[in-house]
Amino acid sequence: MGFRDYNALIHNLSEESMPRYADDKHNERRELEPSQMLEMIFEYVALISKEKEIDRILTLMADFGRELVCADRCSIWLLNEDKTKLWTKVAHGIPSISIPSDSGIAGHAISGAEPIVINDAYADERFNPDVDIQTGYVTRNITALPVYDGEGRIIGVYQAINKMSKEAVFSDVDLGRLKLAASYSGAMLETAIAQKEIEDTQKDVIFTMGEAGETRSKETGNHVKRVAEYSYVLALAFGLDKREAELLRMASPMHDIGKIAIPDAVLKKPGKLDEAEFEIMKTHAATGYQILKNSSRRILKAAAIVSYEHHEKYNGKGYPRGLKGEDIHIFGRITAVADVFDALGSDRVYKKAWELEKILALFKEERGEHFDPKLIDAFFSSLDGILSIRNQFSDNDNSFGN
Ligand code: C2E
Ligand code: SIN
Ligand code: SIN
Ligand code: FE
Ligand code: FE
Repeated sequence: MGFRDYNALIHNLSEESMPRYADDKHNERRELEPSQMLEMIFEYVALISKEKEIDRILTLMADFGRELVCADRCSIWLLNEDKTKLWTKVAHGIPSISIPSDSGIAGHAISGAEPIVINDAYADERFNPDVDIQTGYVTRNITALPVYDGEGRIIGVYQAINKMSKEAVFSDVDLGRLKLAASYSGAMLETAIAQKEIEDTQKDVIFTMGEAGETRSKETGNHVKRVAEYSYVLALAFGLDKREAELLRMASPMHDIGKIAIPDAVLKKPGKLDEAEFEIMKTHAATGYQILKNSSRRILKAAAIVSYEHHEKYNGKGYPRGLKGEDIHIFGRITAVADVFDALGSDRVYKKAWELEKILALFKEERGEHFDPKLIDAFFSSLDGILSIRNQFSDNDNSFGN
């Protein structure tokens, strides 16, 4: 999707997403009465402060601004990390849209670090009419103002297009209202962005480390992703809360990180390992634990546990410590199910992928032996979800026998 489709999209979204206070059945809308305005502000403030997802905050802010200044459209553009682009995301499941950060009215609001009110767009050289040409929309007026974080750095632009009241021009009152909305929502956004940055960084580190462990053994990046998603689904089905499930989702891909210390002769041996070789292989669990255990990060601490305990068995016959039953941390028990399900369904240097029926049969046999019986029940009750993850992150080869 290009920037070209953006106006149409914003329009459609706003039509249905939020209560509308103005009379929007006709092109012209009335300014809100003070009491309506107050009610509307309370409503949006309550909605925005409950929201933690950036996308949703952006949508709510857009709807909020639109009502506040009686505009036809409103959008919030955010600067990317290197400040070269402005991006916005207007609906779930649709990729974000971005424009160069020095382009158009939004770009000028940033470079000039001040609000811009333009009531005759076509008479202003900063306006870029390309968008209108593509969409058939006629931009009359635009208000754009920078959005700041707590330290006074610009993080984006709040932009309203086409005043819909009778006067049909944006005023200083409109600008003042948008400024207030921007300063309030800027703080909310900043928190959401900071949180997302931390999580994105952590995910990067985790998947990179996970793949470092796996690629040497010819397992794909998709293996670590599948294990992550299987673990998440299993954790929820088992009854862990969402926060714990999300922690495990980030930690479980690192279960085999200790394989980086296993010599190729063992790791990549095309056939069955002999007893001595398997002893060497078994050290990967404790090695992973040693690598991760000293971190103070919550995710890495969880990953240390997962690494240490993902080859323990419920019946006590696993390794490295032979832990039994619920002495095995729930994260270890869950990752064991996720890892074995994926390992059996995939080609390995030492084996071909198994058919699904054979895997399911083994899981039933191993209920209460290798695996926690409650987790096997959780596995079968969420089988649909598990199989759709398997399809979504498939290796695009003959893995899983289909
Ligand atoms: P992996 O390939 O990721 O397999 C993870 C776990 O899935 C295995 O843990 C085992 O519990 C289960 N699994 C995988 N393939 C089979 C199978 O064909 N039959 C059964 N019943 N279970 C299977 P395990 O056994 O502790 O192995 C840990 C790691 O050691 C494996 O990770 C793999 O990297 C390596 N490994 C195990 N056996 C062999 C082998 O015969 N040859 C080679 N080259 N590596 C092996
Ligand atoms: C728009 O029509 O969305 C704004 C164009 C511009 O910023 O110049
Ligand atoms: C948890 O960490 O949420 C549960 C611990 C356990 O059951 O072993
Ligand atoms: Fe392992
Ligand atoms: Fe694995």
